[in-house]
Amino acid sequence: MEYGPLKLFSGSSNRPLAQEIAQCLRTELGRVRLERFADGEIYVRYEENARGVDAFVIQSLCHPVNENLMELLIMVDALRRASAGRITAVIPYYGYARKDKKDAPREPITGRLVADLLITAGVDRVLTVDLHAGQIEGFFTIPVDHLRAMPLFSDDLRHKGLRNAVVVAADDGAVKRSKQLADRLDLPLAIVFQRRVGKDTKQPVEVVGEVEGRVPILIEDIIDTAGTITGAVEALVQHGAQPEAYVCATHAVFAGPALQRLARPEIREVIVTNTIPRHPDAPPKVRVLSAAPLLAEAIRRIHADESVSALFT
Ligand code: R5P
Repeated sequence: MEYGPLKLFSGSSNRPLAQEIAQCLRTELGRVRLERFADGEIYVRYEENARGVDAFVIQSLCHPVNENLMELLIMVDALRRASAGRITAVIPYYGYARKDKKDAPREPITGRLVADLLITAGVDRVLTVDLHAGQIEGFFTIPVDHLRAMPLFSDDLRHKGLRNAVVVAADDGAVKRSKQLADRLDLPLAIVFQRRVGKDTKQPVEVVGEVEGRVPILIEDIIDTAGTITGAVEALVQHGAQPEAYVCATHAVFAGPALQRLARPEIREVIVTNTIPRHPDAPPKVRVLSAAPLLAEAIRRIHADESVSALFT
């Protein structure tokens, strides 16, 4: 289907990433005013023609998540009312995803609620990176392109030439992703089983696999409070692993005690992407890999009606 010219617009959540995407595409961000009324309500106005355009609105649903979500919805509403030809929400970090099912009676499924809100606002398609759970794609009745940051991490780690390492899933939810990394790096896999003891807290109960004397490499989709990761690293060191773990995570939420926990000397390096802006207090051992080239290439392909699958397999 034919659309007008490609136009990129950025919300307030991650402007540096949006600017980098624009550079990769050799274009500039479209002009949009994002302001607040005195009472805190959000005001949006596009300051250039949007009629018929193939619009890509870049907004991560990171802190402050409610503000950023609402801003995205309002930006989409304004574009729809301005007769944009097609609207793609580029959501490098899809927040509210961890409630993707009911674990107890009378709970919400916020991953689905956010999908419904986006569709109601007028989003035609979604481009995102490392959803917390693949099934969230199914919450949408519009196309979703789901990119993976895995190649960024595996290429980076391969260049380190780590010998005597083991890829460790920090909990059972991380097994699939960790197995993929282990296969890519041709390393063995181990698993730390953890029991959830609170909304944000887990406790290691068992380490399965050969970790003694090995350098642990852990990969997560999200580091929020860093409890899962540091709990796993602690258990690994107790089981004889080298106290020099490498930790990778696509989305560096870094809330609450995260930075304090990641400061532990047993963690040598924390490798994350820029789907969320770098935390201003992050120490030098937090290294950021850019997801901009990947997102830019996906945007180029979506606009050109070319296959995106090569980028997410
Ligand atoms: C959970 O299911 C996720 O994959 C992460 O393990 C979790 O969200 C990380 O949270 P935290 O850093 O607070 O342990």
